Amino acid sequence: MKSRRPLIAGNWKMNGLRQDGLALARGVAAKLANEGAPSCDLLVCPPATLISDVSGALAGTAVAVGGQDCHAAPSGAHTGDVSAPMLADLGCGYVIVGHSERRTDHGETDEAVRAKAVAAHKAGLIAIVCIGETEAERDQGRTIEVVAGQFHGSLPEGATAVDTVIAYEPVWAIGTGRTPTVADVAEVHAMIRREARTRMGDEAGKLRILYGGSMKPSNARELIAIDDVDGGLIGGASLKVEDFWAIAQSCP
Ligand code: 13P
Repeated sequence: MKSRRPLIAGNWKMNGLRQDGLALARGVAAKLANEGAPSCDLLVCPPATLISDVSGALAGTAVAVGGQDCHAAPSGAHTGDVSAPMLADLGCGYVIVGHSERRTDHGETDEAVRAKAVAAHKAGLIAIVCIGETEAERDQGRTIEVVAGQFHGSLPEGATAVDTVIAYEPVWAIGTGRTPTVADVAEVHAMIRREARTRMGDEAGKLRILYGGSMKPSNARELIAIDDVDGGLIGGASLKVEDFWAIAQSCP
């Protein structure tokens, strides 16, 4: 039994109209009501348009709600953006920052990601800071160096195990059905915890480090069983109630 309670987080990405989001949220809530709580914390991160509805549908349940991104500023002239206080206002407890799709599609640097994490903390949100190497970087044998660099560059000064979660998501494993070996995941997660010790001392023992990238019911158990893996950040499989629930039930 691990001392850290796992977190199973669904990242719905840019999927779902209101009806779909509500059905998914209600489906997860129904599983929880009918089958009892799994041995993990549960979180769903809908697109911004659905947060209000999903938050309402999940009020009073043990399923937390989070955003997929936030701006570094609390308000202002930033057309199209959503701030951390706005997410908190809708009932969010978490926000994902620095997802590789944001880093790629929107050119987000470690510095920008760190500023977003700081904004999340100021708004009382838990920041899920995403890091991970590309396939080319892995092929060049640079995985450890790249992930360690992103970790230090994206983590705010003074981040704690209470206000921060790390998600290791190898870019080449996202949405591809491919996953690193158990040994590779174990090596990267152990490295992240070692690096975390240099930043937060013993507190690093409490830091949750999630794995993300093609996690599904058939591989969740062996991934979550790895020593320094404290749950998952799930994309595709989080859009199906049965799959998301099966992954949650894979927690020991
Ligand atoms: P998939 O589970 O679809 O590979 O996505 C992982 C991810 O990017 C979660 O943030």
